[in-house]
Amino acid sequence: MRTQVAIIGAGPAGLLLGQLLQRAGIDTVIIERKSRDYVLARIRAGVLEQGTADLLDAAGVGGRMHSEGQVHEGFSLAFDGRQHRIDLKDLTGGKTVRVYGQTEVTRDLADARDAAGATTIYQAEDVVLADFDGSAPKVRFTQDGAFHEFTCDFIAGCDGYHGVARASVPPAAIQLFERVYPFGWLGVLVDQPPADHELIYANSARGFALCSMRSATRSRYYIQVPTDERIEAWSDDRFYDELRRRLPAATAEAVKAGPSIEKSIAPLRSFVAEPMRFGRLFLAGDAAHIVPPTGAKGLNLAASDVRYLSDALIEHVSEHSEAGLNAYSTRALARIWKAERFSWWLTSLLHQMPGASPFEQRMQLAELDYLSQSRAASTVLAENYVGLPV
Ligand code: FAD
Ligand code: DHB
Repeated sequence: MRTQVAIIGAGPAGLLLGQLLQRAGIDTVIIERKSRDYVLARIRAGVLEQGTADLLDAAGVGGRMHSEGQVHEGFSLAFDGRQHRIDLKDLTGGKTVRVYGQTEVTRDLADARDAAGATTIYQAEDVVLADFDGSAPKVRFTQDGAFHEFTCDFIAGCDGYHGVARASVPPAAIQLFERVYPFGWLGVLVDQPPADHELIYANSARGFALCSMRSATRSRYYIQVPTDERIEAWSDDRFYDELRRRLPAATAEAVKAGPSIEKSIAPLRSFVAEPMRFGRLFLAGDAAHIVPPTGAKGLNLAASDVRYLSDALIEHVSEHSEAGLNAYSTRALARIWKAERFSWWLTSLLHQMPGASPFEQRMQLAELDYLSQSRAASTVLAENYVGLPV
């Protein structure tokens, strides 16, 4: 079988790339390891930059995001028993973010792909990438015990951190940069109104906490926990009790508890692979880089990679130009490293590092106090949070 672009992974990066290419008349096949239901049930990101929203519009899937998502003009930092609002709109000359779950983005993209009649192969096993250093790359896999092979012009590795694409590259051709943090986020999703109408990021002596949401009636909360924490150790009651102890009194009181409809622990990691192109194989999204979730950048970086890559592939097909393809890795990495820096900085500012000295804790509080008083410092935070230019 033949296709122009074989896309590995049906997460947001793969589905968005597929949609943009399909609309430009480029034939794609998406090969995904898990089932459609599994992919659509994963609870992850919640905050979209304007550039990501614009790209979803360009892909023709922005309708529900506009009608059901929320525009947020600011968020709050909580520390030292008080709360300070960062006015994103005022500090960035009018920019805002959108709260619309990754689960919904994925559903909108998967539905649009089905409607377009494009092929997505779910539950593909033993996916193998071959010959991407030549002119006719191949993707091989089995499904229900039957062997399949696609020959293509390009492979897009959109298969996340644990995927096969990056692992297929010879180790000598790739350089990896990594920081693993000694804590994770325990997240709870609950059908209760959020504690506040905007997000609250909290630094407390007991550890980080985040009050987020999916809608006016559905809240998403996270607390920092040690990496080796067991999820079974956290009853809903224990979770809300710990969450409230990390928030200023008035916010703690506003948290409405309820039975969790999802509860999971995510480890925190910073990771970048360089370069992002190997012959006719291109990496995009979490396959090439991971940020700790604190700055809400992971999904947005996946989207900006896809913007660069789709532009380059469309230019190649329509104008027979290699320029965009040759520039892809450098362009994408320039934006990625700045988002890595921001995510690492915000993580360091808001979490309790095990073994941190009282001096380091005072440094965090001094910086948060400075942020709350200095328009220049707040502007740096705001312009990174709404997203640097794509
Ligand atoms: P993925 O979503 O990981 O998709 C990869 C796909 O490839 C998966 O469907 C996987 O099943 C498939 N796959 C893997 N291996 C193979 C294989 N061998 N063969 C075929 N298919 C394969 N980001 C934000 O921007 N804002 C936020 O607010 C935010 N909050 C987050 C909160 C949490 C708790 C977590 C865990 C993440 C958060 N992120 C956030 C990050 C964001 O979810 C990811 O960056 C995003 O999912 C990356 O998309 P992707 O398509 O690159 O990778
Ligand atoms: C959410 C996740 C984040 O990482 C973040 O910074 C803000 C919100 C969320 O899942 O709602």
